[in-house]
Amino acid sequence: MRTGVWLVGARGSVATTSIVGALALRAGLTGPTGCVTELPEVRGPALPAFADLVFGGHDVVTTPLAKRAEALATAGVLPARLVAALPEELAEVERELRPAPNTGSQADRAAAIGRDLTEFRQRHGLARVVVVNVAATEPAPGPHPAHADPDALRAALSGPDEVLPPSSLYAYAAVTAGCPYVDFTPSTGLRLPALTALADAHRVPYAGHDGKTGETLLKSVLAPMFAMRHLTVRSWSGLNLLGGGDGATLADPAANAAKVRSKQRVLGETLGYLPQGDTRIEYVEELGDFKTAWDLVTFAGFLGTGMRLEFTWHGCDSALAAPLVLDLARLTAAAHAAGHTGPLADLAFFFKDPLDSTTGSLADQWTRLCAFARQLHGGGADATHG
Ligand SMILES: NC(=O)c1ccc[n+]([C@@H]2O[C@H](COP(=O)([O-])OP(=O)(O)OC[C@H]3O[C@@H](n4cnc5c(N)ncnc54)[C@H](O)[C@@H]3O)[C@@H](O)[C@H]2O)c1
Repeated sequence: MRTGVWLVGARGSVATTSIVGALALRAGLTGPTGCVTELPEVRGPALPAFADLVFGGHDVVTTPLAKRAEALATAGVLPARLVAALPEELAEVERELRPAPNTGSQADRAAAIGRDLTEFRQRHGLARVVVVNVAATEPAPGPHPAHADPDALRAALSGPDEVLPPSSLYAYAAVTAGCPYVDFTPSTGLRLPALTALADAHRVPYAGHDGKTGETLLKSVLAPMFAMRHLTVRSWSGLNLLGGGDGATLADPAANAAKVRSKQRVLGETLGYLPQGDTRIEYVEELGDFKTAWDLVTFAGFLGTGMRLEFTWHGCDSALAAPLVLDLARLTAAAHAAGHTGPLADLAFFFKDPLDSTTGSLADQWTRLCAFARQLHGGGADATHG
């Protein structure tokens, strides 16, 4: 079953790596390392195959996708041989990328986004289109009364105010066009009562927020260990140094605050208390897409004896994120096909700041994901073979 993957921020590092990766998998030029949906516990007939994914998207910049891919290859994020082997496939995706609508009221822009989604679905005879937000992180918006109610929101969007931040306008357009929505970023997206009500009314599933690919992934493994051994974590401080487009965006204090909030959540949830310390993010242009995280954890054992753990993580952010974007598109498409609506809390495994999660432990989230996958493969309404 052909499935659309509409990327908001389609010319960014994560999006480009996801597109090149999926095209390379389809052409048999690479293996699925990093793709959770190819593990025996998760894969199965309900998931669309990589070859069935059709890509499109919006961006505010017009840098050709092939140029973006070449730049990522030069930076060591993508193998240059893959980019060189896929010129026609990349040109095909290029034809499906659209400029982010930027004229008229927010209602006009949402309608234009909705038209792009519907035409994409029709043009390719797609069973469904999953919209995935991988655009630059934006600051949290100020409160607005229309955020509480779908009718008030609809009316306000036609007025002169910028009622919704861009991520939420895309989420609005996606759900009202009947498209499942995934937020891989810490931006607001669907997290407004008016929007979740609209998603419910349109019977679409949604997932988020903020892909868990590095320091927070380690936190979600290590924090439960301290809790299970009844050790008291006294402080947990982290410093993240990163370059690239994401790093440049996060140099803005307001965007940085949204990211730091989502990174700290796992500690409070897993330990049941918040240790001292903070997570800091610093932009170092030279590092490009490669991120270094240093964490220092101090903890107390029997009789109050103080100890410490330090770790250093050197990750290539887009290479870690892209397979998860493909996983999320496949799983969310399968959930939609099986009739799931509302928040997909079983996908918490993928996120720093998951919807409706009761535990931040990666092991618990993995168990839930596997159970969800089993259920999808057992009873999807229009399950397809991957
Ligand atoms: N790489 C990771 O490991 C990781 C993990 C979790 C979350 N994320 C999030 O994924 C997002 C993308 O990261 P990236 O490294 O690709 O960043 P990037 O800066 O390379 O790409 C972002 C893209 O979004 C586009 N954009 C900005 N505003 C837009 C709008 N209003 N409409 C459409 N497009 C818009 C930009 O032009 C750019 O092409 C960020 O929000 C980041 O925080 C990444």
